[in-house]
Amino acid sequence: MQQLTLTVNGTKRTLLAKPDATLLDVLRDGFGLCGTKRGCEQGSCGACTVLLDDEPVLSCLTPALRCLDRCVTTIEGLTESGEVAELQRQLVERGGIQCGFCTPGMVVTLHAFLRHNLVPTEDEIRDAISGNLCRCTGYAKIVKAAMIASGLQGERS
Ligand code: FES
Ligand code: FES
Repeated sequence: MQQLTLTVNGTKRTLLAKPDATLLDVLRDGFGLCGTKRGCEQGSCGACTVLLDDEPVLSCLTPALRCLDRCVTTIEGLTESGEVAELQRQLVERGGIQCGFCTPGMVVTLHAFLRHNLVPTEDEIRDAISGNLCRCTGYAKIVKAAMIASGLQGERS
């Protein structure tokens, strides 16, 4: 076991991590942040997406010890800060959430994308979420929600 210190959702945290632990293991099993979903664990579904130093990463493929002294933001952090409130509202109102398993990773990915793309096209949104699998919605409602949320965010900024 090795000592690992990192900042999670704005708070400095320390724990002992196994050398082969992933960031996903540390977030869920070490810190109890279960909003980040354990899906395929092979880098294929996007359910485990979090921000590492503000960039989206697949936490199931990210070695925990590589996150030493870095900043991780999970869906819990984005929700508590209110940064994704409009996106969440639109996903609910447009039917972009069904079983909800993909939703945390989808929201983290879309948030990271929309920050830099204030007026995205539908194709750009589809491309941005191409690594996030959703078995329920067929994607159209998620894309619609993201389009509307981006417009509303643009109006306010
Ligand atoms: S759980 Fe990480 S990509 Fe599927
Ligand atoms: S809402 Fe069920 S997987 Fe996306």
